[in-house]
Amino acid sequence: MKAALLKSFGTPLAIETVPDPVLGTGEVIVDVAATAMLAYAREVYSGKRNYLLDLPVVPGSGGIGCVRAVGPDATRLAPGDWVYCDPTVRSRDDSVSPDILLQGLTAATEGGRILHRHFHDGSFAEQTRVPTENLTRLGTIDPTEAPRWCGLGRLLVPYGGFLVAGLKAGEIVVVNGGTGAFGSAAVAVALAIGARAVIATGRNGAVLDEVARRYGKRVLPVQMQGDEEQDRARILAAAPGPIDCVLDILLPAASPAQVRTALLTVRPYGRVVLMGGVGMAGGPGVDLPYAWLMRNCITIHGKWMYPREAPGQMIAMVRAGLIDLDALAVTTFGLDDINDAVAHAAANAGPFTMTVVVS
Ligand SMILES: NC(=O)c1ccc[n+]([C@@H]2O[C@H](COP(=O)([O-])OP(=O)(O)OC[C@H]3O[C@@H](n4cnc5c(N)ncnc54)[C@H](OP(=O)(O)O)[C@@H]3O)[C@@H](O)[C@H]2O)c1
Repeated sequence: MKAALLKSFGTPLAIETVPDPVLGTGEVIVDVAATAMLAYAREVYSGKRNYLLDLPVVPGSGGIGCVRAVGPDATRLAPGDWVYCDPTVRSRDDSVSPDILLQGLTAATEGGRILHRHFHDGSFAEQTRVPTENLTRLGTIDPTEAPRWCGLGRLLVPYGGFLVAGLKAGEIVVVNGGTGAFGSAAVAVALAIGARAVIATGRNGAVLDEVARRYGKRVLPVQMQGDEEQDRARILAAAPGPIDCVLDILLPAASPAQVRTALLTVRPYGRVVLMGGVGMAGGPGVDLPYAWLMRNCITIHGKWMYPREAPGQMIAMVRAGLIDLDALAVTTFGLDDINDAVAHAAANAGPFTMTVVVS
């Protein structure tokens, strides 16, 4: 089959013919239709992000495809089913604290690296091999719709955060980084869950205004000016009541103070979800007031990705009309032009756009 290969960090992806993946028990082979290109893929492939990948590797995390062949233990999936492929591969031999591999993106830990030895390659290829439990059926779709369904991956990340925080209809939410790709998706997801108000923070006033214009009057944009206390006061002044939940999804380039600005706005007994990259590039962590956390019974969740049931729930929210996949303008590239896709994704980071590779 044809696949894109990362052979060494800092070199362009090479399009080559590689052996087809071989099916095993507990696995499914998927004919890949469409895979989203992350805005920061270039930083991953250059080695700047220090993501753990053993080379050579076929990159590409998750996506949309059509089942080609199922292992003997699949009871529902069948060839021809359209599916969402979740790149979050979890080890099966410790249900309490499984290791995680983001297939085609990063092994992250030594345990993830063991998974990476087997589920080595990702989805920038004509076929991919995926653990059976990582597939969720989409139902009937027109094949031309596959690229827009890649928007699920963007939405599912913040949905995982709101699930762990138990976000409920009627609650007041802060999305710290509401101007970003995942942050603006978080705004859409919080609204779909039924938030009373979503305070979207960001430094970029024009993008904030666009987020508010697109998502309506439950979105309250608050521009961050860089002074922690004043920015926090702005968030609190915008909120129509006590803030129930804060979700942070800033880039590694952001400072710990930018996280703390939003985090400390949460009400007593409130919940905070940390999903961003602050600290991943090194530097100090987020310094939090112990007594304030303790006296106010604050819950802080770190969250990487989302649970196994989330894709089915998100597909249902799309089918119900609660989430509009057309909020993202999609630009597609063929596998042969994948290096153009990497550059396009980097040049078009942020909300409302998505770069997709079609296989
Ligand atoms: N936990 C998970 O499961 C998970 C999954 C996927 C991605 N992520 C993480 O999500 C983060 C956001 O990714 P993205 O693709 O949404 O990024 P993005 O589109 O570039 O958005 C970045 C956000 O960070 C804000 N920001 C604040 N300070 C910044 C600074 N100094 N430099 C640059 N941006 C700054 C930007 O807002 P303004 O420019 O308006 O301030 C924007 O809202 C990444 O760190 C990624 O690792 C987490």
